[in-house]
Amino acid sequence: MRTKFFISTFLLTVFVLLISCTSEKPKDIIAENFDFAEQQLLYAVDLTDEAIKNDTRDSLAKANRPLVSPRTMGEDGSLVMVPARDWTSGFFPGELWFMYEYTKDPKWEELAVRFTSPLESQKLNKGTHDLGFMIYNSFGNGLRLSQKTNYSEIIMDAARSLASRYKPGAKVIRSWDHNRDKWQCPVIIDNMMNLELLFRAFKESGDSTFYTIAVNHANTTMENHFRNDYGTWHVIDYDTITGEVLHRNTHQGYADESTWSRGEAWALYGYTMTYRETKDETYLTHAQNIADFIFSHPNLPEDLIPYWDYNAPEIPNEPRDVSAATVTASALYELSLYGGEKADEYKKWADTIIENLTNNYRATLHSDAGFLLLHSTGAKSLNSEIDVPLVYADYYFLEALLRKSKIENKQSLF
Ligand code: GLY
Repeated sequence: MRTKFFISTFLLTVFVLLISCTSEKPKDIIAENFDFAEQQLLYAVDLTDEAIKNDTRDSLAKANRPLVSPRTMGEDGSLVMVPARDWTSGFFPGELWFMYEYTKDPKWEELAVRFTSPLESQKLNKGTHDLGFMIYNSFGNGLRLSQKTNYSEIIMDAARSLASRYKPGAKVIRSWDHNRDKWQCPVIIDNMMNLELLFRAFKESGDSTFYTIAVNHANTTMENHFRNDYGTWHVIDYDTITGEVLHRNTHQGYADESTWSRGEAWALYGYTMTYRETKDETYLTHAQNIADFIFSHPNLPEDLIPYWDYNAPEIPNEPRDVSAATVTASALYELSLYGGEKADEYKKWADTIIENLTNNYRATLHSDAGFLLLHSTGAKSLNSEIDVPLVYADYYFLEALLRKSKIENKQSLF
């Protein structure tokens, strides 16, 4: 009897040991994605260096507007590069800073510095509102992670350039200079993202002008860019003297009265960030209402990766916009820290987005021009960049993964 007992106990132990050795450990989605990103971004750096070397533009273009960063993939699978003045030039250096933040490997810091430096040429560019994307995502992350003192001066110069576009009569920062026959002072919802540069300049210098401009822009945008359901108009045109709203239009969305998905994501991120910088609960409530719009929308697909516009006419046969999903996920991680009855849901929605992107939207290693994610849409209304990888989708994907990691390890996000 005893022998039988020992034999069965022995067999059971062997069985349990076998099971525990062969069953896979649960996959760490953050580590796995950064592992992929490490390999894919080194490949992207090689492709980028090659594209810069083989630039076929004329010598004047090469001298005046050297190519600095990848933006998307062409139809033939080639890398589409941009000069420093393109609004997307800061995202690739930003990704390299995120890799340094995650790995602490000096190799990534060196690469980040190399791809950040050429963007200094834009610090005095007063012809764009996108200096936040260009300078803050590159030099701003660099300052946060490596304390380079000249980065602080560059950020201050860029903030002064951005502030030069402020129109005190309308209390907004002008977005675009094009289409002057159509708009007097166009402001796009995207512009909320560039306020982070001004908040940083206020903290660097103590000059409250930057803070006031940022808060005024956020307040005017809150008043005029949102419908009753918290969906957004993309472009609001202002009279610069009286502040009167002249037009409500779209540029990258389906229609003037539709809600362009990435615009809504910029709004969510922008008001969450504005709450962080001001601690004014009005912005928090606003961000929560924007999240409600997105996550109760009947046209949001089950996997939470939106179509390019919430009112696109051929849904479900419309392209997705992964960039809207990554911006949303990153914003939701931050929003989940600020309480409210849906705080846990914000984290769960962000986790679901990350999981679905990882499983179903990721690029192929050492292919897809070195991008991390597929299926973004730049501007379907302009027949541009439809269902392609986009560098800003990847940037906010890595930022979201870092935020998830910090939250789960009980570290501060900033
Ligand atoms: N800020 C430009 C865009 O989102 O396409």
